[in-house]
Amino acid sequence: MTKDILLWDQTVFKEQEYFELDFLPENLLHREAQMRSLKFSVSPALRGSTPLNACCRGAPGTGKTSAVLKVFSELENATQKVVPVYINCQLDSTRYAIFAQIFKKLFGYPPPSSGISFKKLFSQIAKHLVEKKRVLIVALDDFNYLMASKEADEVLYSLLRMHEVQPGAKAGAIAILSDLTLDMARDLTPQVQSVFLPEEILFPQYSLEEIKDILKYRIKYGFMQGVISEELVDRVARYTAETGDLRVGINMLKRAGLNAERRASRTISEEDVERAYEGSRYVHLNYTIRSLKKEEKALLKCIVESGKDEMMSGELYDRFREKTGLGYTSFYEMVNRLEGLKLVSLNNTGKGVRGQSRLVSLMYDPKEVGKRIDV
Ligand SMILES: Nc1ncnc2c1ncn2[C@@H]1O[C@H](COP(=O)(O)OP(=O)(O)OP(=O)(O)O)[C@@H](O)[C@H]1O
Ligand SMILES: [Mg+2]
Repeated sequence: MTKDILLWDQTVFKEQEYFELDFLPENLLHREAQMRSLKFSVSPALRGSTPLNACCRGAPGTGKTSAVLKVFSELENATQKVVPVYINCQLDSTRYAIFAQIFKKLFGYPPPSSGISFKKLFSQIAKHLVEKKRVLIVALDDFNYLMASKEADEVLYSLLRMHEVQPGAKAGAIAILSDLTLDMARDLTPQVQSVFLPEEILFPQYSLEEIKDILKYRIKYGFMQGVISEELVDRVARYTAETGDLRVGINMLKRAGLNAERRASRTISEEDVERAYEGSRYVHLNYTIRSLKKEEKALLKCIVESGKDEMMSGELYDRFREKTGLGYTSFYEMVNRLEGLKLVSLNNTGKGVRGQSRLVSLMYDPKEVGKRIDV
């Protein structure tokens, strides 16, 4: 009994918070250029002018949300005259819901629950901005959800043409998306495109060395000294690089630490890391599947339903076409995107034409993939 109590006291963690996925670190390593671009885009707002719009793009887990939140928190500390509003479009996916959030941020309380018309909500927001000489900057995270629900045009239109309704109202938008193939020029109406014109800010995947740096920073502040060896950090970094998603590494460190604690050990072993990987690798799958379009999920489902974990692309295309009615160009684009997201791998068999002879293999257990798609 006493021994158990003693064990409760022992911990490998100095600050476990450093291994939570929503933790915002002091420094975002290797994102200096992107942070600079973001600051450049919002800087006119600091002088009371309309900010430039921006679009942050990159694969899952490349630091887009973190970079925007970081810039927002710096803005909030610097001035009351700029109001940054962060919207998660997966949660708030209609124009009304988004403007209700903006209202709440500006006034400090939500719009009346009895409901007011959008027009009224909108005009109160616009009036407030002009009267208080405040500039609004709205980050629309997971923007692809808005594109899917066709609300994107309306949201951007209302936001960016606010000054037409209320002269002097100033607002900018930052779209954040993990879909690299989404073509705004194709998918937004020309009226919206003409006012949106975003600065493109790209978030490339981190290299192995960059991943190591970022993980080491977490280790330094999150673990007690000497908890994990250099060699095991390398291993965690290599696993992380396989998916390109930093969440895998951060989550692995937490799990490995907990595994060590369970053994009442003050250091992490190879086994602790390997067991952690079994759980953490699905973190990437969870986040990636979340960012897929309905048709892309349908494509994955075709492989899952085949009962195998790989298929020839010709056969896969036939099934996909049957299911979705989409043509070869869409299919080809989607397969490549799934490869980019490290959900499938492609191998050329050297036969056939136009890529029909490629072998498309799932990178995860089909059952695990199947569980996460509901189309
Ligand atoms: N440069 C960095 N330095 C430190 N931590 C980082 C860095 N980049 C990302 N992270 C961490 O990795 C995790 C994922 O980052 P973030 O949520 O910003 O990614 P994202 O690009 O928004 O991904 P998604 O497209 O899936 O939303 C977070 O826990 C974040 O703290
Ligand atoms: Mg994000």
